[in-house]
Amino acid sequence: MTTKRLVMGQVSVCIGCCCGQTDRGKPAVPVEWLKTEWRRRGLLKNIQLTISGCLGPCDVPNVVLIATAEENVWLGNIDGFEYYREIVEWAAESKAAGRMLPLSKDLLKHRLDPFR
Ligand code: FES
Repeated sequence: MTTKRLVMGQVSVCIGCCCGQTDRGKPAVPVEWLKTEWRRRGLLKNIQLTISGCLGPCDVPNVVLIATAEENVWLGNIDGFEYYREIVEWAAESKAAGRMLPLSKDLLKHRLDPFR
């Protein structure tokens, strides 16, 4: 099957049972800010933003999954607003470049592999 809605990538930000659950002592996820920035910067047609239920590796909240045609990059412990800002900046720069750029070293320090 094919879809007319082709994107360069998808960013799934977890706010499941653990990620972003500040009442359980987990770091906050700036969901409304992310949605606003994604809209304001016109990113949606190029890079899908998905606010997700549990993605699986709950022991390393907050989890973000970045999927592209080339690979899936899982990030864990995205525990500060600055990381979300970095993700938005990276998405905007990728849109401008017309391709998914490499993630910064700061973000890649949070890379995890959830598979055996
Ligand atoms: S709640 Fe985010 S990985 Fe489970």
